[in-house]
Amino acid sequence: MSSARVCCAGECAVAEAGHVAPEMPFLKPFRDKRRDSRSHQLAKGGAELRGTGASGNRTEPKAAPRVLSRRDGALPAEHLPLILEVAPNADYALLDSGAGQKLEQYGPYRIVRPEGQAIWQKALPAKDWDRADAIFTGDTDEEGIGRWRFPKTPLGETWPMKHDGIDYLGRFTSFRHVGVFPEQASHWDHMAGLIAAAKRPVKVLNLFGYTGLASLVAARAGAEVTHVDASKKAIGWARENQEMAGLSQKPIRWIVDDALKFAEREERRGSRYDIVLFDPPAYGRGPRGEVWQLFEDLPDLTDLCRSILTPKPLAVVLTAYSIRASFFAMHALMRDTFAGMGGTVESGELIIREKSAGRALSTSLFSRWVA
Ligand SMILES: C[S@@+](CC[C@H](N)C(=O)[O-])C[C@H]1O[C@@H](n2cnc3c(N)ncnc32)[C@H](O)[C@@H]1O
Repeated sequence: MSSARVCCAGECAVAEAGHVAPEMPFLKPFRDKRRDSRSHQLAKGGAELRGTGASGNRTEPKAAPRVLSRRDGALPAEHLPLILEVAPNADYALLDSGAGQKLEQYGPYRIVRPEGQAIWQKALPAKDWDRADAIFTGDTDEEGIGRWRFPKTPLGETWPMKHDGIDYLGRFTSFRHVGVFPEQASHWDHMAGLIAAAKRPVKVLNLFGYTGLASLVAARAGAEVTHVDASKKAIGWARENQEMAGLSQKPIRWIVDDALKFAEREERRGSRYDIVLFDPPAYGRGPRGEVWQLFEDLPDLTDLCRSILTPKPLAVVLTAYSIRASFFAMHALMRDTFAGMGGTVESGELIIREKSAGRALSTSLFSRWVA
């Protein structure tokens, strides 16, 4: 099974054409030969030898080799498949889809974007699609907002949006994204519920945090949040969103760093979290060129996420998209990694329910451990 929050189809093509902005390090998949040699070593030697210099082009050496072995203890209970659904709501709606496109309402604007999974026919008539305010053209001669067409009036790069009472900015980006992944709302609601129910101080780590909606939801729910992303630009947008949301006084640390390195450092420093969210791309780069490859690095990062939990943790939530894998793979990894911790591993897909004909658009795979 492959799942698409579509950072892949269009953007990979764009990436290969050499148009990737360095600020958006999650959009450029290619095979890294040095990584290949590391895989080869792993295949030969078995153990994970991080920090030996064999692990790709990370520029700073790793402190200690991480040796992965199967965790002892009973496997957590399991719940799958679990399909988490976002229905049309006042802030966001998938209005219609089909013929390789989707028509969405983001606050005041109707937006048309390519959608590779919409292999069915559109349910709404052309006149409804023709009323779009913005259409992603993907024109590779253009940059940024130039890749969008505005059939009615030219729009600015950002516009005011809301999520469940939290104000933030939608944005027309070069890579067809609009600054938010609405399907993540299922995780945000779940996390906010856990934070509220804990009735104690809760620390949340949001890795690959992008424009920060999850961090804002967590902070509003009362958590102390650490938000990490490799992109300075994305961190800037997230800070703007914090201001927009009127949550400037809430304790959020905004950190530009490589997610894996940051987690390693937190492990060494003894920093601990009650909830960890990680939503890694298939391929990405840290701020100093560190290469993130999901299939190579996810086992280490998942293991690290377990290591940096407090003695009474609440949850660890993994989402993945644009990969050729089934949620069963993530489920097995999470269940093995959380052996001996009790709780339940729940895995499945995040979907968006379409308003016109009720079809489900799958966006990503997820697996979460809940205490
Ligand atoms: C698709 S976004 C995650 C979306 C986010 N969870 C949300 O719901 O808004 C992927 C993010 O990972 C970041 N990224 C890519 N490689 C990274 C790395 N090695 N370390 C940290 N962040 C990275 C990108 O800058 C991007 O913001």
